[in-house]
Amino acid sequence: MTAQLIDGNALSKQIRAEVAQRAAALTARGVKPGLAVILVGDNPASQVYVRNKVKACEDSGLHSVLEKYDAALTEAELLARIDALNRDPAIHGILVQLPLPKHIDDHQVIEAISPAKDVDGFHVSSAGALMVGEVGFKACTPYGCMKMLESIGMKDLRGKHAVVIGRSNIVGKPMAMMLLAANATVTVCHSGTADLGAMTRQADVVVAAVGKRNVLTADMVKPGAVVIDVGMNRNDEGKLCGDVDFAGVKEVAGWITPVPGGVGPMTITMLLVNTIEAAERCAA
Ligand code: GUN
Repeated sequence: MTAQLIDGNALSKQIRAEVAQRAAALTARGVKPGLAVILVGDNPASQVYVRNKVKACEDSGLHSVLEKYDAALTEAELLARIDALNRDPAIHGILVQLPLPKHIDDHQVIEAISPAKDVDGFHVSSAGALMVGEVGFKACTPYGCMKMLESIGMKDLRGKHAVVIGRSNIVGKPMAMMLLAANATVTVCHSGTADLGAMTRQADVVVAAVGKRNVLTADMVKPGAVVIDVGMNRNDEGKLCGDVDFAGVKEVAGWITPVPGGVGPMTITMLLVNTIEAAERCAA
């Protein structure tokens, strides 16, 4: 193995310790940072994610409320809950776990969250703020990826070529914007890209965020490149794996994030950071 690991668990632990300190300082001033997490339906993966988010809050001294609703909840009922949480002074961040049942329009729901409480960073106003370099909440997964780059001395990416594979609103697009803001030259690849390997072989940094195994293999990586794997998939044995062929790519890359223990814990950590930030803005 030539690549060094970027350990998301270790970095998370460090950042969460800072979050806990900031939470304690705010609480001492009478403002306990609070996150509301809404889960609609019984998607098993979502149940695990929300449980982890609520537990992370408790571990760092944040107040959290988990609201679970039956899949039959109507869109109007959900919008009414969000309206109430928008006005609730004990709640600084609101997260509606996706995906929502098909009869509910994700877009309507996300847009109903007050931008001041949009700790997922999914609101059009948050996405727009990122685009034009204004203050707003950054989407947690790409934000976590940027912190991982920062942890290996790559905060400023001037002169570097970053290739993002995937163009989702949740990861690929905000990732590209954050890399651009860090002065990287950015290429976004996707299912319509003719020759993915020709693009990734030019990259100093590759972020794989497709949701499909083995999207990036060793022959597609420039020796010494930094490889960030956002994927969360299961292999044939049912084991968690990313989008990157880890066994092959680790022999070529300079740095690589493992799955599990890479980007996953960082996503939750950045949610805590955003929630603290929301509470601090409220207390200011
Ligand atoms: N579903 C998958 N990832 C996420 C996330 O980061 N936030 C929310 N709200 N839902 C998700």
